[in-house]
Amino acid sequence: MAIYDLVVIGTGPGGYVCAVRASQLGMKVAVVEKNSTLGGTCLNVGCMPSKALLHASEMFEEAGHSFAKMGVSVSAPKLDLPSMMNFKQQGIDGNVKGVEFLMKKNKIDVLKGTGKILGTGKVEVSADGKAQVVETKNIVIATGSDIARLKGIEIDEKRIVSSTGALSLEKVPGRLLVIGAGVIGLELGSVWRRLGSEVMVVEFLDRILPGMDGEIAKQFQRMLEKQGFAFKLGSKVTGVEVNSKALLAKIEPAAGGAAETIEADVVLVCIGRTPYTDGLGLKEAGVALDNRGRVQIDPHFATSLKGVYAIGDVVAGPMLAHKAEDEGVAVAEIIAGQAGHVNYDVIPGVVYTTPEVSSVGKTEEELKQAGTAYTVGKFPFTANGRSKVNQTTDGFVKILADAKTDRVLGVHIIGREAGEMIHEACVLMEFGGSAEDLARTCHAHPTRSEAVKEAALAVGKRAIHM
Ligand code: FAD
Ligand code: NAI
Repeated sequence: MAIYDLVVIGTGPGGYVCAVRASQLGMKVAVVEKNSTLGGTCLNVGCMPSKALLHASEMFEEAGHSFAKMGVSVSAPKLDLPSMMNFKQQGIDGNVKGVEFLMKKNKIDVLKGTGKILGTGKVEVSADGKAQVVETKNIVIATGSDIARLKGIEIDEKRIVSSTGALSLEKVPGRLLVIGAGVIGLELGSVWRRLGSEVMVVEFLDRILPGMDGEIAKQFQRMLEKQGFAFKLGSKVTGVEVNSKALLAKIEPAAGGAAETIEADVVLVCIGRTPYTDGLGLKEAGVALDNRGRVQIDPHFATSLKGVYAIGDVVAGPMLAHKAEDEGVAVAEIIAGQAGHVNYDVIPGVVYTTPEVSSVGKTEEELKQAGTAYTVGKFPFTANGRSKVNQTTDGFVKILADAKTDRVLGVHIIGREAGEMIHEACVLMEFGGSAEDLARTCHAHPTRSEAVKEAALAVGKRAIHM
């Protein structure tokens, strides 16, 4: 029986990246995966399929609404949903094969089955009623997360769906009721609205996208409403009655009060995700969980059991693929005796809608709460030349800098390609840069990124084009 240096349980972005980095560092590595394909939530039912549908549905909407004004005359686009789903599947397959290739290239053994930790250095892998025990010096738990469920609302993945069902609907629902105005609700709500659904979003809080900068969220809500989204904030769904014709959702004010009934054809439940530790045998092995069911780790990703580490969605922190990947690299380096490290102050977040929303660092609300004195520089895309000629002027860039030192503390962007533009702010912040550093960096013209430079100039009240 092979003795590995490292066995990684789970092959999502956390697990497979950790395995590759460990192999680069000279370790003998195996990954354990219970799903029939590698890549985890992100590649199979998360980031990648959702982005394929967001892209395809955006093209559908553009063809119907934006081409004519540019002088491109096409007949009204027709939706071929099975082909769109096929486009999505091809994207998934390509990425999953890419991970298989990386495992081969890096000589990483792939053990198909459910991994269970028997104790330090021992992982049982079971599949089809057969089990084998593999021995290893180190174990990394990268088992990710699962959908959070709402009490009394049974997900059947046909009419009452989670994100997984919403990525594979067989026809466009006439009326889509989304529970939760977080990232999934707004991204997948956008997909189905563009394809023809009437979308209503019910959110418990009195705002959308909790955690994002408040001003950005407010503006974004207005833009989504203009696109046809309806929002019911400060409300909760207390039950869904299923009958042959429609779903009848009972909605109450969050604080309690008179209920109303809203009819829908499909209900999407997206109220967050929970860490996934089923079948891992953590309790018996002595791996402690925190009060929210996440695997408890120290600052070096070590769990309470010697030689066992954990990363990604199954531990605390934002449930994002790139956070899981960076933790995967860091823990592999730590196991190899290096100084692996993740800077949690510089983890970008992106909502891949149209326009996109992106963010890194502190929000205004967080700075106010911490009592930090800050200056704000804002620049709208209406004053950016490239956005003007392309007639895509929705949104703005906002930079928050320390009032005393000018160090950039947070950057928030709403607008086309905001998800790409945020990275110059990430690099700047990683190096502790100031708004002045950004303002004095030459930006190519004409680009939308010039709005980032102008927002930095606006911190010092000297934007040129405004
Ligand atoms: P996962 O990707 O969840 O992988 C865990 C793997 O472990 C799975 O393959 C599972 O089968 C396996 N596993 C679990 N238990 C065992 C066991 N006992 N034995 C063997 N294998 C096991 N994040 C972004 O950053 N950007 C996005 O655009 C984005 N879009 C998303 C869209 C949707 C619809 C969803 C649901 C999520 C999205 N996310 C996005 C979040 C992202 O998918 C997760 O943050 C990321 O997948 C977490 O990676 P992970 O490696 O921790 O776990
Ligand atoms: P979320 O945490 O982003 O949003 C959930 C929303 O549901 C919140 O606004 C919350 O207030 C609301 N809510 C909770 N209980 C409710 C109730 N009973 N009734 C009404 N509203 C309720 O979670 P979401 O959208 O499910 O996404 C899960 C995770 O996946 C997120 O952590 C996110 O990071 C990740 N993800 C990331 C994406 C990206 O980076 N672009 C895309 C999709 C998912």
